[in-house]
Amino acid sequence: MRNISIIKALTRHHDEMRELVKKIKKDKTKYILLKKHLDVHHELEEDLLLNLLNNKKGVKAESLESQEEHFVLNILLLDLADFPKDHPRWMVKFKVLIEILEHHLDEEEEDLFPEAEEHLSESQLNKLGKKFQELKDERLSIVMETK
Ligand SMILES: [Fe+2]
Repeated sequence: MRNISIIKALTRHHDEMRELVKKIKKDKTKYILLKKHLDVHHELEEDLLLNLLNNKKGVKAESLESQEEHFVLNILLLDLADFPKDHPRWMVKFKVLIEILEHHLDEEEEDLFPEAEEHLSESQLNKLGKKFQELKDERLSIVMETK
């Protein structure tokens, strides 16, 4: 597998999710795909990157904020997965989720990721990028088989 920084890999996955959001606006049944991607994304981002940054002065605040936003997003994702899709409130709830998600993705890309690049070495970033790609593919292939 080609060398890829975890920052680049995470940003690419963010873009995949932005595309999925557009699709869900036209077809609500695709929502479960976004939930599965985000569940895997949050878990790996926390395990591989945030846990490391949470201990580093200068980037700690951004990193902890990201983690708290994951917590909020996870609650909303779960709520929406259980909420009836034919109910008029479903789309309202989805739009609120998307507002928070878009803010979160943009903030990570604009604030957290550049700080992470300053605090970690190129070889560390590439090592983590490889790990992210491998685990993402592995975990997504497992969750995609379940309902
Ligand atoms: Fe995130």
